[in-house]
Amino acid sequence: MILDGRQDSSIAEAARVLAAGGLIAFPTETVYGLGADAGSDRAVAGIFAAKGRPSDHPLIVHVPDAAAAGRFAAGIPPVAQRLMDAFWPGPLTLILPRRPDVGRAAAGGQDTIGLRCPAHPVAHALLLACAGGTPPVYGLAGPSANRFGRVSPTTAAHVQGEFGDTLPVLDGGPTAVGIESAIVDCTRGVPVLLRPGMLTRAQIEAACGERVWLPEERSEAGPRASGTLASHYAPEARVRLMDGRSLQTALDVLGPDSVAVAVYARSALRTRTPHYRRMPDDAAETARQLFAVLRDFDAAGVKLIWVETPPEGPEWDGVRDRLHRAAAG
Ligand code: TXA
Ligand code: MG
Repeated sequence: MILDGRQDSSIAEAARVLAAGGLIAFPTETVYGLGADAGSDRAVAGIFAAKGRPSDHPLIVHVPDAAAAGRFAAGIPPVAQRLMDAFWPGPLTLILPRRPDVGRAAAGGQDTIGLRCPAHPVAHALLLACAGGTPPVYGLAGPSANRFGRVSPTTAAHVQGEFGDTLPVLDGGPTAVGIESAIVDCTRGVPVLLRPGMLTRAQIEAACGERVWLPEERSEAGPRASGTLASHYAPEARVRLMDGRSLQTALDVLGPDSVAVAVYARSALRTRTPHYRRMPDDAAETARQLFAVLRDFDAAGVKLIWVETPPEGPEWDGVRDRLHRAAAG
C-alpha cells in the first residue's frame, strides 16, 4: 500500500503502525528507508527478517534533530558535534558510542550506533509524529528499503517492487540525493569515512577541522558494515566498468549483438542497443538517477550493463564507490 506522504492522515497512519511495532517504508533525501521503532528490539527484528539481512549488521537510526541523538549516543565527541552542526539535517551518518540501555538490536549488538537526521519533509514529519512531544525524542531504525545486497530504492515504486504489498510505503517522491549517506565513524579517536556519499571528504574535513581517514588507512578491524562489503548495491545483470574507448571497442566487437547490452556512458558511443542512457556530466545528477537507471536496465531484462568509468574528481567518489560495488556483484 502506498500512502501519500504529503497528507497528515498518512503520517498519522504510519506513526500508528510504528507504535504498534510494525514496519513502514519512508522517504529520505538519500534513498528510501525501511523503518521500525529503534527503541523496540522486537520491532527492529522485523526489519532484519524483511530484508533478509544478518542480525549482526548494524542499522542506521534516524533522529528528528541533533538533541535527540543523546537518547542513543553515550557521548558526542567534539568532532561529531561539529559535523552535526555543519550537515544535519542532511546525508551524513555518524557512528557514536551507544548508550548500553537502548538500541541494541538496531546496533546489531555493537556498542556503537549509527545516527542520522534526514533532510526530508516527510521523514521529518514522521519523526515528529512518532516523538509526539517536545522536545521530540525518537529513533527510527531504517536501513535502505531493499532486500539484502540489492540496489537501494529511490522511489516508492522501487520499494513496492522489493516488498510488494507486505508493508505500507510513505511516498515522498523520487529522492533528491540518490545514493546513501556518507558514514563517519567518530568512535576511533580520529574520524574515519566508512562510506563515501555526496558530501566530499574535503567538505567533511573542513567541517571537522581535522583530517578524515579512510578505513584502509586505519588498519584496526572495524565493526561489520554491509554497505562496505565489496559486493553490494548489485543489480541482477552483470555490471562492468570501462573507459569510453574500451567501451566503444567492446560494442564494435559485439556488432549487432550489442542490442542485448545496456550502456550507461558520458561519451557519445556508436551502438544499436536500445538500452542506452547518457550519464550526466554532473556528479549530483548522476547520483540522483543512478539506482533508477540500474533498476530500469534490470527491468528490461538485459544480462550485461556496461558503464563508462566516472571522472576522477572527488565529487564523483560516492558514485564511483557504488558502481565499483555493483560491478563486484
Ligand atoms: O542514506 C542512508 O544512509 C540510508 C537512508 C535510509 O538513511 N540508509 C542506509 O542504511 O543506507 P543501510 O542500513 O542500508 O546502511 C547503513 C550502513 C551499513 O553499511 C551499516 O553496516 C553501517 O551503516 N552502520 C550502521 N551502524 C553502524 C555501526 N554502529 N558501526 C559501523 N557501521 C554501521
Ligand atoms: Mg543498504
